[in-house]
Amino acid sequence: MNKLFIRTMGCAMNEYDSEKMFAVLKKSHNLEPIENEKLADVLLINTCSIREKAEDKLFHQLGRWRKLKDKNPNIIIGVGGCVASQEGELILKRAPFVDIIFGPQTLHRLPQLLNDKLGSKKTSIDISFPEIEKFDNLPQSKSSSIASFVSIMEGCSKYCSFCVVPYTRGEEISRPFNQVIEEINNLANMGVIEINLLGQNVNAYRGELEDDFVDLAFLIEEIADIDTIKRIRFTTSHPVEFSDRLIEVYGKTAKLSNHLHLPVQSGSDNILMQMKRGHTCLEYKSKIKKLRKIRPDISISSDFIIGFPGESDEDFMATTKLIKDIGFDKSFSFIYSPRPGTPASDIKDTVSMETKKSRLAIVQNLIDDKTEEISKSMVGSMQKILVERVSKKSGKLFGKTENMRNTHFAGDESLIGTIVEVKITEGFTNSLVGVLS
Ligand code: SAH
Ligand code: F3S
Repeated sequence: MNKLFIRTMGCAMNEYDSEKMFAVLKKSHNLEPIENEKLADVLLINTCSIREKAEDKLFHQLGRWRKLKDKNPNIIIGVGGCVASQEGELILKRAPFVDIIFGPQTLHRLPQLLNDKLGSKKTSIDISFPEIEKFDNLPQSKSSSIASFVSIMEGCSKYCSFCVVPYTRGEEISRPFNQVIEEINNLANMGVIEINLLGQNVNAYRGELEDDFVDLAFLIEEIADIDTIKRIRFTTSHPVEFSDRLIEVYGKTAKLSNHLHLPVQSGSDNILMQMKRGHTCLEYKSKIKKLRKIRPDISISSDFIIGFPGESDEDFMATTKLIKDIGFDKSFSFIYSPRPGTPASDIKDTVSMETKKSRLAIVQNLIDDKTEEISKSMVGSMQKILVERVSKKSGKLFGKTENMRNTHFAGDESLIGTIVEVKITEGFTNSLVGVLS
């Protein structure tokens, strides 16, 4: 047994967790990653339960893996992530052939769960929330990449009425400051130059430091002091905790990327209240206004939920107005999906699917048009690009601008891992073309 395949669904946090699963199982069982699932000895799926469709994908995947296990009963199949956390043993009702079930907070226990399974016929299950134990037990990343995620907090205590995250990942809990800095120093020593601080609600970070607690603003400034770290991002934030201190850091710290993902979900105060977001549309706008005073050209993106129960034409118009007022860059929009156990799933849904779909199309068009407009407006400008690799598609160098535009330009491979100045010559909705200056 030595080949491990992991399929990852959902958010950046899950991608980070999957990387850690590879690392723990490499250390404990010398399992090697493999890209072809048909050749794997251990198949893991890191699931997402944020919307219904994400959840359906789990059972489709398990159906396909069952066929592999029918041919080779020694294959181990494991289900992790948020669906595992929420459904637990119920997964076995639909898929009794699953060998291991583990949650986002117990992935560091995978070696033991795997051993338990190898020693018995019973499915190994552990979906508990053992607080911050996870981070104390994970091997340091051996990332050789140029940009790296660093998880600084877990879970969410906001309990937006539509969202499963607080139930699947638990309440907010932050990693101690020194532990985070140590991981980042290690990554910096391995050549990483961009750090993306990760958390479901990352600006709620309160890291312990010498009998006190420090916030995200403090952490960002400390990271900026590491010479070889050239760019800092963070994701995802909640508007309520987008503090004045954080806004000030944008003024003080040039390394903090000129892009902010700050999900607003809706432009209607009535819907925001029902969603229990804890702020009004005006409060959101005034935070953006303050930020733009300091960084006038910052790119702002958001998530939107369309068709929340009871969303009237007027509510929807308020969302389209906010999109136009802020001029959001490339953003995500989703049709509301009732999630079991969340308060919103009890609200009577009066909006037809047809209306939801047409509203979604309107929002997506608005955002796409603006995104294209922003890309076109970048033509002729100089952009700082972190060179990540040679693109398979274009054969040219590839990297991202500060505002997350994929950019292609000709240049020598030796530039990979550096930040270069590129003059933009063409702008499309999702990508740019340029020349090295
Ligand atoms: N922490 C982030 C959100 C994480 S979930 C925040 O502060 O908002 C990622 C996105 O999924 C959310 O922003 C929301 O737009 C979407 N989402 C969450 N629950 C949803 C549901 N029940 N239906 C549709 N979209 C949902
Ligand atoms: Fe979900 Fe709201 Fe937290 S969207 S992740 S409960 S901030």
